[in-house]
Amino acid sequence: MVSIVMACASQRVMAQDDKVSCQTCHVAQGGELGASVHQELSCQECHSGESTFSISQSELAKYLARSANSHLSFDHGQSFLGKPARKDIPERCGTCHADVSRMNPYGMRTDQLSRYWTSGHGRVLKEKGNDHVAVCIDCHGVHDIKSGRDPHSKTYSLNIPDTCAACHANQALMDEFDLPVEVVSEYRDSVHGKLLFEQGDTGAPTCATCHGNHAAIPPGFSTIGAVCGQCHHHESKMFATSIHAQQEEHKGCVQCHGGGEDSHFHHIERITKPPGLLIQRYAHLLKTQPNPTPAQVAKAIHPGPKQIIMRALPTCMDCHEELEDDESLPKLFNLLDEIAAAEQRYVETANRLDHVGQGVLLVENQRFLFEDAKTHLIALAPTQHTLDNEKVAEKVAALNEVCAQVNQQLDELEAGLTLRYKLLVPIWIFAVLFSIAIYAKYKQLKSQWVKPLK
Ligand code: HEC
Ligand code: HEC
Ligand code: HEC
Ligand code: HEC
Ligand code: HEC
Ligand code: HEC
Ligand code: HEC
Ligand code: HEC
Ligand code: HEC
Repeated sequence: MVSIVMACASQRVMAQDDKVSCQTCHVAQGGELGASVHQELSCQECHSGESTFSISQSELAKYLARSANSHLSFDHGQSFLGKPARKDIPERCGTCHADVSRMNPYGMRTDQLSRYWTSGHGRVLKEKGNDHVAVCIDCHGVHDIKSGRDPHSKTYSLNIPDTCAACHANQALMDEFDLPVEVVSEYRDSVHGKLLFEQGDTGAPTCATCHGNHAAIPPGFSTIGAVCGQCHHHESKMFATSIHAQQEEHKGCVQCHGGGEDSHFHHIERITKPPGLLIQRYAHLLKTQPNPTPAQVAKAIHPGPKQIIMRALPTCMDCHEELEDDESLPKLFNLLDEIAAAEQRYVETANRLDHVGQGVLLVENQRFLFEDAKTHLIALAPTQHTLDNEKVAEKVAALNEVCAQVNQQLDELEAGLTLRYKLLVPIWIFAVLFSIAIYAKYKQLKSQWVKPLK
């Protein structure tokens, strides 16, 4: 009933000039806006213009039937601003987003615009008037803007590398600014990129974590420690005490971890492996090689923290001399060798502990004690960033000490077991003799007392 009345009413209006809104003709934009964070905004807040237009039914039909190449135009009226030019977009978005009283009810920060103007993007737009840089809509979308927590958002962590790649992997565009396109593929191949894309771990840094959401300038080598230190506290604390932290030209963490000479600081790789994996690899090695040499163990469990240094070596030579003449580099290799030896001691002990634990002995106390060794082992790699032999030696000693204690207790347990086996021998002999004696006695008593019936 109601719908018939409505249909009649709308027919009546349609017969005369119709009152239509922006969405009547721009259905797609209306739909996108309605499903976005801006669903409460009207079109006029960004485009200005009338709120309704009077238009005849036949004319409206023409507009509704238009296609992308029908070149129809429509007089939107005096106050209409149209499609904002790219260079005006930041200020347009800023009319609300930089207005504290406007954004207060939503508890949102209002520094996006001011930060944007300090970014590499903003500066090039303002100073050179070049609008090939990113403006708000390139990272957020136009009518379909979603919150960064929404997996469909262009700023959702898993989508950010693609959002940046739209320009930063575009060779022609990057050539114009003399920037490398490789940063994107290097990032994808890095430990962080793999963590993000292969494991969906949103704890991994994306482009915007290191470069800032709106202040997209390279972090600068002197502040990289702080950027990486957001997550790698120990390494950056230790690095800060090293001699390199005081060298102005040193590139901080990415001097060693950035992927080496031919890369662009984004190919950060996993070298260290978690202790569990080291133990697994050692056990695997023992299956094919019962008595491995130390070199074989080192190769199998930890194929080379030296890789990092070897790849970075050419960049070290800016300050250091050739390997033969410089004492620093062998010193670093020594540190790494000490760590490798300690790791080896650790996996051997872990393996023995497992082995003994599979028998009749209870090794719970030793397992508990061995947890300390794991703590020391985990602390070793960060400590190495101090480049301080003594600090590393201290940790290595602490680790060795725990391994020695565990090994000693295992020795004692095993010795105890052997002793018990040995003690059993006389007991068995006694038991056997005793049985024989009892049997003999029984035979004797039987022949004495039990007479066969006649
Ligand atoms: C009667 C239909 C109709 C109405 C109502 C209408 N438009 Fe349009 N609009 C058009 C047509 C036709 C074009 C040109 C071709 C196209 O973009 O499809 C256009 C173009 C535009 C453009 C692109 C201009 C450019 O510079 O490229 C914007 C932005 C726009 N309209 C926004 C609005 C807004 C906002 C409203 C409401 C205030 C509105 N329109 C109302 C039909 C309409
Ligand atoms: C938050 C601000 C904002 C709101 C609200 C908004 N627009 Fe837009 N609109 C823009 C911007 C910015 C552009 C320019 C996009 C570009 O340069 O690619 C644009 C472009 C357009 C265009 C040109 C074609 C296109 O899609 O790029 C049309 C048509 C349009 N808007 C219609 C609308 C209509 C209809 C509404 C209301 C339902 C609306 N807009 C609401 C910011 C807005
Ligand atoms: C007329 C005021 C206004 C304009 C103009 C405007 N916004 Fe907004 N925007 C808002 C309001 C209000 C919210 C909060 C909506 C909510 O949380 O319900 C918002 C939310 C957002 C959010 C989501 C934040 C989050 O994480 O939840 C983003 C991103 C955003 N706007 C980007 C833009 C961009 C880009 C432009 C320019 C194209 C723009 N806005 C123009 C008012 C505006
Ligand atoms: C280089 C890409 C990029 C540009 C350009 C950009 N943003 Fe963002 N913006 C982000 C990222 C990434 C986030 C964080 C994820 C999220 O919360 O959406 C963000 C977050 C936001 C938020 C949510 C609140 C906050 O600060 O975390 C608002 C609002 C916003 N941006 C508005 C803008 C406005 C307005 C502009 C233009 C002046 C702009 N953005 C330009 C990438 C960008
Ligand atoms: C619309 C294309 C576009 C998008 C999208 C874009 N950028 Fe840019 N970006 C550029 C251009 C062009 C430059 C060169 C301007 C300059 O010289 O600083 C640039 C410069 C930079 C710089 C500064 C380099 C320097 O040496 O000054 C960084 C860092 C950067 N972008 C990071 C990002 C990140 C992170 C994202 C994604 C969140 C992103 N960009 C998205 C086009 C874009
Ligand atoms: C783990 C942190 C980190 C991540 C993630 C990261 N970057 Fe960087 N980025 C850096 C560092 C460090 C530099 C070099 C600092 C310097 O040049 O002062 C840099 C430099 C850059 C430069 C300037 C390169 C040059 O040669 O001038 C661009 C452009 C850039 N990054 C874009 C990106 C993009 C796009 C992504 C995502 C695909 C990304 N970065 C991810 C840390 C990061
Ligand atoms: C002089 C070269 C060098 C510099 C500079 C350097 N590292 Fe390292 N880093 C290494 C080496 C070599 C390893 C591997 C150590 C190992 O496996 O025992 C390593 C290992 C790591 C690990 C893995 C450690 C673990 O516990 O598994 C992280 C994370 C790390 N570094 C972060 C950083 C950060 C953050 C910075 C800057 C504050 C930095 N590194 C600076 C050489 C360096
Ligand atoms: C947002 C947090 C975050 C930031 C910022 C960050 N990382 Fe990472 N990084 C991680 C996570 C998470 C892992 C994986 C650790 C793991 O699985 O044990 C990782 C792994 C690594 C590894 C490999 C560690 C290993 O055990 O082999 C290195 C090396 C590394 N990061 C260096 C850096 C450097 C250098 C920077 C700065 C340019 C940086 N990271 C910035 C979170 C971060
Ligand atoms: C910006 C210059 C600079 C760069 C680049 C640099 N170093 Fe150094 N490094 C120094 C200075 C200066 C010292 C302290 C003086 C000395 O012992 O020669 C030092 C000391 C060291 C030490 C400690 C020596 C000691 O006795 O305590 C090691 C190890 C070392 N560097 C390794 C490296 C490696 C590996 C690289 C490349 C990944 C590298 N350095 C890159 C400047 C640099």
